[in-house]
Amino acid sequence: MVAGPAQSPLVQASRRRPVPHTPVWFMRQAGRSLPEYRKIRSGVAMLEACMRPDLVVEITLQPVRRYGVDAAILFSDIVLPLKAVGVDLDIVPGTGPVIAEPVRTRADVERIRPLEPGDVPYVSTAVRELVGELGATPLVGFAGAPFTLASYLVEGGPSRNHERTKALMLGAPDVWAALLDRLADVAAAFLRVQVEAGASAVQLFDSWAGALSAADYETYALPYSSRVLAAVADLEVPRIHFGVGTGEFLGQLGQAGAEVVGVDWRVPLDEAARRVGPGRALQGNLDPAVLGAPVDVVAQRVRGVLAAARTAEGHVFNLGHGVLPDTDPDMLARVVDLVHTETAG
Ligand code: CP3
Repeated sequence: MVAGPAQSPLVQASRRRPVPHTPVWFMRQAGRSLPEYRKIRSGVAMLEACMRPDLVVEITLQPVRRYGVDAAILFSDIVLPLKAVGVDLDIVPGTGPVIAEPVRTRADVERIRPLEPGDVPYVSTAVRELVGELGATPLVGFAGAPFTLASYLVEGGPSRNHERTKALMLGAPDVWAALLDRLADVAAAFLRVQVEAGASAVQLFDSWAGALSAADYETYALPYSSRVLAAVADLEVPRIHFGVGTGEFLGQLGQAGAEVVGVDWRVPLDEAARRVGPGRALQGNLDPAVLGAPVDVVAQRVRGVLAAARTAEGHVFNLGHGVLPDTDPDMLARVVDLVHTETAG
């Protein structure tokens, strides 16, 4: 039998089983740091690119070809399913998602309807084609966690302090709960579409969760992320749960239900393993900014991450957050080779 993606190092490490080498992929591996990406995207808006299966397939494959990473991540965006259920939004270059009419009231919340597979036919088509092209390399599907999606919707765009989000969360907890319930349903449905079309793992991105204290995370965000993860448990693919700035509540992240906890660069993986506790694999966590340092420094830092990961029950090498736009693609290729050679055996 030919080994498929279910036997891949990514899936096996996520299940805390032995692997021939530590699997490595990069958040935001498809994107502006690649000249071939900039070329194919020229003149095509971000959301339009996400809705064209030919472009989604090609852009998703670009980093796999160039780097030999152990996983592909679907080229899409966390706000795409919101667009697909009728939220008026755009992704503005250099800024990020911008929402035409921010969500502030219960009536605004009620306009966010559930996502049906027929709302994102281009995603199913692209995933099916990708799975054929990728062979034994797993495809990671993803969704934004309810808190991070809510922050964009309530603020109307990217935010430094998330003050309107917190004002709603604390001032109208019933509206907040209704909003996060709906976003949990949308995120779970979006993950389900991707896995049913053939994705071998999923990642829930809670990029802005670090704006919360541990107590507020536990009350206002964690229950909804747990719901998303539970809603896809029956699909039996590894679930990766990633947040930025979540060092203070890694233990709670570990309890949310995912097999793998994604760790940013602020907490060394040995300490993260201690905070997360047994029964979980870890993903991470090279500081993406380190990739701008000289190659010997990068190599030393990669070895540092691998050494710290030894106490983890399973390890998927990644950055502590997404690839920065000015990153030299050759440096990422070296990191992949180094992770593979250092851990082969
Ligand atoms: O390679 C991959 O990781 C797959 C594709 C992917 C994109 N966005 C493509 C993209 C993934 C997984 C995301 C997730 C995403 N989108 C997150 C969570 C991960 C994270 O980085 O924290 C968030 C917060 C978003 C929202 C968003 N979309 C931001 C902040 C931006 C960047 C805005 C900018 O231009 O600086 C986007 C746009 C976006 N999503 C780009 C890409 C490749 C850049 C758009 C472009 O190339 O024009």
